[in-house]
Amino acid sequence: MLMFARPSFILATLMYKHLQERYAPRPPVTVSTLNAMKTEGEKIAAITAYDASFATLVDDAGVDLVLVGDSLGMVIQGHDTTVPVTLDDVIYHCRAVAKGLYRPFLVADMPFMTYPSREQALENAVRLMQEGGAKMVKLEAAAGQAEILEFLAGHDIAVCAHLGLRPQSVHKAGGFRVQGREEAAAEQMLRDAKALEQAGADLVLLECIPASLGAEITRALSVPVIGIGAGPDTDGQILVLYDVLDITSGRKPKFVKSFMAGADSPLDAVKAYVEAVKTRTYPAPEHCF
Ligand code: KIV
Repeated sequence: MLMFARPSFILATLMYKHLQERYAPRPPVTVSTLNAMKTEGEKIAAITAYDASFATLVDDAGVDLVLVGDSLGMVIQGHDTTVPVTLDDVIYHCRAVAKGLYRPFLVADMPFMTYPSREQALENAVRLMQEGGAKMVKLEAAAGQAEILEFLAGHDIAVCAHLGLRPQSVHKAGGFRVQGREEAAAEQMLRDAKALEQAGADLVLLECIPASLGAEITRALSVPVIGIGAGPDTDGQILVLYDVLDITSGRKPKFVKSFMAGADSPLDAVKAYVEAVKTRTYPAPEHCF
């Protein structure tokens, strides 16, 4: 005889999925988990992903946070910059990644010109969450974007502020360069980071800055700070998946390290990356500015 579960039981099971997951052996990472990792000094291992198969692989490898970055414009679509990437592109890849992920925290990039005003930022962030399944949105920001970030945070949207090298500004900046080398620029970046935290950023990402500045900003903020080319002292590290797997061509930035050497499979390589971040062996001095 077939047994059917009562509709009220099914509803209760769905409603409290979040609570059940919290007590699972590998509970999904949340903003609270990331904050606790900062407080306890456990490094956050983050990586990019763009599809469901790799999402499952990086989850199995023990990654804490996955970013569907607009780097997809370069590594997936073959562009020279991230500028041509559209919101629909990120939503498409984010939806695929969300299907493959269980434990890591899922962050999606807001592409070039998708947050020129508070209202447009809100509308597009909502699409990334509702259609893409993102739990947090990332925008490239300086103090000028504090008002936009505050508006998103005021609508209970988790936001990551990306400072330092901001690839969406490449044409205005005249190239991809290390940022914050001069004292005035470093002081300005520290002020911007504090202003964005004050505005409600839950996470800060620092790209391509001197290691000493990465350490100073990380100490000054209460929210977790993830670095890429920002030295060993940030609360976590992120790399583009295809760099970890050594399948990007051409000249690579100094902070990039392939983890394929000695790895039997892509899964082993991502596990080696996670281990290197957690044990603080990556980034080494040769990866820092
Ligand atoms: O788009 C991206 O992948 C990023 C990382 C480089 C941090 O923003």
